[in-house]
Amino acid sequence: MTEKNNLKASEEKKVLKGLFPIDRFQSLKTPFYYYDLDILRATLDEIKEQPKKDGFVVHYALKANVNPEILRTIRERGLGADCVSGGEVEAALKAGIPASKIVFAGVGKADWEINLGLDNDIFCFNVESVPELEVINELAAAKGKTARIALRINPNVSAHTHHYITTGLNENKFGINMSDIDKVIDLLPALNNVKLAGVHFHIGSQITDMEPFRELCVRVNEIQQHFLSRRIVLEHVNVGGGLGIDYEHPDDSSIPAFKSYFEIFRRHLRLQPGQTLHFELGRSIVAQCGSLISRTLYVKEGATKSFVILDAGFTELIRPALYQAYHKIENLTSDLPEKEYDVVGPICESSDTFAKAYALNETKRGDIIALRSAGAYGEIMASQYNLRKLPEAYTSIDTAVSGLA
Ligand code: LLP
Repeated sequence: MTEKNNLKASEEKKVLKGLFPIDRFQSLKTPFYYYDLDILRATLDEIKEQPKKDGFVVHYALKANVNPEILRTIRERGLGADCVSGGEVEAALKAGIPASKIVFAGVGKADWEINLGLDNDIFCFNVESVPELEVINELAAAKGKTARIALRINPNVSAHTHHYITTGLNENKFGINMSDIDKVIDLLPALNNVKLAGVHFHIGSQITDMEPFRELCVRVNEIQQHFLSRRIVLEHVNVGGGLGIDYEHPDDSSIPAFKSYFEIFRRHLRLQPGQTLHFELGRSIVAQCGSLISRTLYVKEGATKSFVILDAGFTELIRPALYQAYHKIENLTSDLPEKEYDVVGPICESSDTFAKAYALNETKRGDIIALRSAGAYGEIMASQYNLRKLPEAYTSIDTAVSGLA
């Protein structure tokens, strides 16, 4: 753990304040994303502590953030990649992540995306349906190749998280239902250009209670037994991602609970000899290193409340509007006593609200506001709605300032 991680809550705000000396704020062109690579490195160090002897392999889920410096830092630490589109496969390869460490998931892979994976001999396609399996077989045959595949199985385990980010229930579109496993196994001998290498699961995201992961382990053990009873030994099991982070205390707990998370799998998941266990972590790796930095355009006194109107909106960070997500908000340029505000963006929709009745140090026009824990599913989900410009991203105050040039 770095010193930064041991700060008391009262000292938390100083972490970002220290990085952005007040006299330099005025020259900053907002809004932009700021990524603290020290936090990212400390997070990756913690992951690396998980002993390799357990056969654990971690892939970074690119969907959370594809900032080139973030990808480079992750690649340097030897993580693999979890991709859900041809674009992400290209980004992973471009970042120097070897194809042999790339897994490719997604319910709707287009032919060109499958071909891209085949041409590069990626580690594995996580296959979500029988029609997809047949198409991969066909495209691989056309190239005279054998595609390594894992069956994504929907384990019907509840993640107890927001319903938009729950994926492992029968009602969700993801994966092959358990009742169809036998049908798929029966089909495999006729598909000469795919090799079944593993099974894949992903029950949801922002899971902070470890119980769903334990339930997943129990389900995986049952499924493994079933494969064994059909005389199929798998090379690997992939349990997806989903480990949540502490949005309330971005500095106090900047490193997610990797220890307890990996321990659950170590204790409850029974691997066969020689089998590897793969993880696809996104949010837990990059969320806490990122902040969205914006400027207060206006403070408006409404009929019943005060609004802080920022120059960032849901075009830059959609999570509060889409999932009612909480992001800690800090005024980096005010030490005045706190007042309650609705913190909103400039977009012409009422859902463009970051927080309601939020206690912020008294705020005035020009104040710099940070939305914390925004490194995952922030910049990457930005849009140009209202013809706004996509936000810039920086990894130091110096590059942020020179970004003005
Ligand atoms: N593997 C698969 C198959 C996934 O679908 C996902 C995320 C992950 C891994 C990585 O999950 P993580 O470790 O990041 O929880 N935009 C939403 C989150 C969507 C997650 C989609 N799938 C949000 O902002 O909360």
